[in-house]
Amino acid sequence: MTHTILTVAAGANAARLFSSFAAGTRLEPVVTGFYEEATGSVQYVVADPVTRSCAVIDPVLDFEPTSGTTRTTSADRLLRHIEAQGLTVEWILDTHPHADHFSAAGYLKDVTGAPTAIGERVTEVQKIWKKLYNLPNVFPTDGSQWDHLFADGERFAIGAMEASVLLSPGHTLSSVSYLIGNAAFVHDTLFMPDSGTARTDFPGGNARQLWQSIQRILQLPGDTRLFTGHDYRPNSREARWESTVAAQKAHNQHLKGRDETEFVKFRMERDRSLPLPNLMLLALQVNIAGGRLPAVEDNGHHYLKIPLNAFR
Ligand SMILES: [Fe+2]
Repeated sequence: MTHTILTVAAGANAARLFSSFAAGTRLEPVVTGFYEEATGSVQYVVADPVTRSCAVIDPVLDFEPTSGTTRTTSADRLLRHIEAQGLTVEWILDTHPHADHFSAAGYLKDVTGAPTAIGERVTEVQKIWKKLYNLPNVFPTDGSQWDHLFADGERFAIGAMEASVLLSPGHTLSSVSYLIGNAAFVHDTLFMPDSGTARTDFPGGNARQLWQSIQRILQLPGDTRLFTGHDYRPNSREARWESTVAAQKAHNQHLKGRDETEFVKFRMERDRSLPLPNLMLLALQVNIAGGRLPAVEDNGHHYLKIPLNAFR
């Protein structure tokens, strides 16, 4: 399986990134979103219509906490689509270590052989959670659980399409958005305009950083297609996940009429009212390991660990 890094532009400034995103021929990748109802997550297959290469973004490994059962139903749905469309997986991408679901990156790598990647600051998230879980010293916090760690501004290829990475922290400190042709995968920054923005109260989260990340995203051309990481279906409407920069600027419920200071205050107050995600303490130990369950113990079973009274 081939994967190509076109240029490694560590520290590239956003202006340069945006000008190349705006000025180049903005290819239109074929984007298929797969809604996972249990956690309101959206998984994506992003395909180059010319070469039929694709990337998978934020795949979900299903988990049923009552019985402790993992399933690959959601990830297998992606694989069926990939096979039916005659696509070749070049990348398995996560935007950040998720707190609400397990990542299926490890499973999809095993099945497809494609490399996995995430933002390079995941190593900082690993260090935070390694401490919280009191993981053994041998647990690596150098990001070696992924095949590649992306720097801000780094470019890579999906078939003949150029993709680039935009560091967009706030929800987590390592969150990145992927800019691919005229599409941007913005994970937990902006939700649909009627749902607003993502929370920033997990370890390493920061409301002011989220505001700044959102401003960078909103500098993209107005017709840029934005694909969000979650949709919680307000007022029981159908699930949606695609908007545009222009629509977010005009209608986003959390941004409308607020400046940075007002947004930060609003976001922090709102976060204080939200319960922790059901799977957070379970999901993070899988997701800081690249979507891999902890090693089997001598009886052949995997176990997850829960820190007690660490979050109140
Ligand atoms: Fe998230």
